[in-house]
Amino acid sequence: MSKVHIFDHPLIQHKLSILRDKNTGVKEFRELVGEIAMLMCYEATRNLAVEEVIVETPVAPARCYRLSGKKLAIVPILRAGLGMVDGMVSMIPSAKVGHIGLYRDPKTLQPVKYYYKMPQDVTERDVIVVDPMLATGGSAVAAIDFLKQDGVKRIMLMNIIAAPEGVAAVQAAHPDVDIYVAALDEKLNDHGYIIPGLGDAGDRIFGTK
Ligand code: PRP
Ligand code: URA
Repeated sequence: MSKVHIFDHPLIQHKLSILRDKNTGVKEFRELVGEIAMLMCYEATRNLAVEEVIVETPVAPARCYRLSGKKLAIVPILRAGLGMVDGMVSMIPSAKVGHIGLYRDPKTLQPVKYYYKMPQDVTERDVIVVDPMLATGGSAVAAIDFLKQDGVKRIMLMNIIAAPEGVAAVQAAHPDVDIYVAALDEKLNDHGYIIPGLGDAGDRIFGTK
């Protein structure tokens, strides 16, 4: 069974409290999504493999550590996942970025795929799928299905807010995928929105409502 990691870092929780606020405007909302993604990326990557290297400083040789494991790819689920990309890439500049376009049919809540484009060498990379919201889990499960069909071996999922229903769906379909969240909320409402959540993440990032 995959693990759920909840980041209780005070900076993440403080920013999340402003993000949830219905009075937070589009500009600040978008900035906060990026900042939270950056902080979550920092926490989620603390176990990346490193190797020892000796670096000549102007004074003497220094024993240092550099990243040595597989390269990473960041894969946002469009649209809202786009808001997390810059924050992630600012922490991992060598990461490549793939895109999966999905939207939830408002009646059935089923994900509908409209775009899929990965880096050519994605099968040689570890992938972090990013999307601010994990609600029913339909979008995340489908995105991970597509990546596995493409041959990706190691996948992590990062969401700012998750509902227990979404976590259960991902764990059932993809028990090998660890989930990283800033908050695990109470439940979904009848329209598939997370309670208390933050509303529609895509609309709040892009100002479309
Ligand atoms: C939102 C969100 C997730 C999805 C989560 O996207 O960004 O992708 O819903 O819901 P689920 O877990 O029930 O699948 P939405 O479908 O609203 O599309 P958008 O990002 O284009 O606004
Ligand atoms: N998508 C969102 O943007 N918000 C929710 O609460 C659920 C799905």
